[in-house]
Amino acid sequence: MAGLKYLTGFGNEFASEDPRCPGSLPEGQNSPQVCPYGLYAEQLSGSAFTCPRATNKRSWLYRILPSVRHKPFTPINCGNLSENWNEVEPDPNQLRWMPFTVTKASEKKVDFVSGLHTICGAGDSKSRSGIAVHIYTCNTSMINRCFQNSDGDFLIVPQKGEILITTEFGKMMVEPNEICVIQQGMRFSVDVFGETRGYILEVYGAHFELPDLGPIGANGLANPRDFQIPVAWFEERTVASGYTIINKYQGKLFSCQQDFSPFNVVAWHGNYTPYKYNLENFMVINCVAFDHADPSIFTVLTAKSTRPGVAIADFVIFPPRWGVADRTFRPPYYHRNCMSEFMGLIKGHYEAKEEGFQPGGASLHSIMTPHGPDFDCFEKNSTAELKPERVAEGTMAFMFESSFSMAVTKWGLETCQRLDKSYYKCWEPLKSHFNPNWRPSSK
Ligand SMILES: [Fe+2]
Repeated sequence: MAGLKYLTGFGNEFASEDPRCPGSLPEGQNSPQVCPYGLYAEQLSGSAFTCPRATNKRSWLYRILPSVRHKPFTPINCGNLSENWNEVEPDPNQLRWMPFTVTKASEKKVDFVSGLHTICGAGDSKSRSGIAVHIYTCNTSMINRCFQNSDGDFLIVPQKGEILITTEFGKMMVEPNEICVIQQGMRFSVDVFGETRGYILEVYGAHFELPDLGPIGANGLANPRDFQIPVAWFEERTVASGYTIINKYQGKLFSCQQDFSPFNVVAWHGNYTPYKYNLENFMVINCVAFDHADPSIFTVLTAKSTRPGVAIADFVIFPPRWGVADRTFRPPYYHRNCMSEFMGLIKGHYEAKEEGFQPGGASLHSIMTPHGPDFDCFEKNSTAELKPERVAEGTMAFMFESSFSMAVTKWGLETCQRLDKSYYKCWEPLKSHFNPNWRPSSK
């Protein structure tokens, strides 16, 4: 949407007020006896009050009516949203999904919330530790409905169709090849402009942060200044027929009614906000000598666990870059991992499997399940001339890498009917090149 403005900087201490109400942000204190313009002050806490400063997150919202003015929550149908990781038997196989089907609006109107499908996950929102991966497919904007995830943060990866997200903090337009994060508890509503599809990484109990850069230094990968934060925007709108707040709470959906728009925040300040990021701004680090670096060099955001260096989930991308490594098999190596690897493709062709892994589809390589280049990729790259070349041009694949051993839902394995049962065959042609008569060449 043309004309949307953003603040910039990852995790900064921001302040914003709708220009229609100058002076609406209280100065020098958070809770005046009477707020400017007769607004209500409401704090949204994203961390325990007592967290160290570096991880302490909260924002103050100055709104026309406080969130608490609503009718009671009642359970509603969860559709294909699930936190039940025992629906089907575990499946350690390599899994690959063809592009997920988007229902046509002429068949059935589906909005962002009714179009949420959980594909895999692990852990428990109640004990505040875990992860879920969802696919969203929709064709209709949310009308007088908003969503609040009480369980965790949503990292949203649009793949098809831009989404206009109205939040309590303001509006964000997020296009494919951009991502956004809506943190725990933030209310938002999604407008779409046609058939729309994307991926969601949900983490319980941690927020996303930029990875430490170690020897890389002060700059590189996703730079803090490239993260964009909405500016305050409000509507004073009465909805006599009822505005519906949908609350994901302990893995189930609930709804309640109120007679006004929740996007009534005139001014806000704080460091707990939604944000978006354009993946084109990622400063790629890559090998310039020999061997294939581990994919952690492509980490955009990480949700850390309490174990040093171990993420609940990392969001990793595989952007266009130069491949220049000498005497090296340049595609990803064959691999078995103590982490789970869920991959998706926003656009283009993924380098290790040029066929079968399509934009809008996905793959899951579970803990210790072998994976790696298919036959064609191995043969081609074992003999390729190693001149500098563009890698992944015009593509954007990504990975949600998690220390959790994820279970696949019944929707993922059966209901969606997108599982590619022949996936394993891409490795079947791999043949032995072993030559017992090989000898080191004499120097
Ligand atoms: Fe891997």
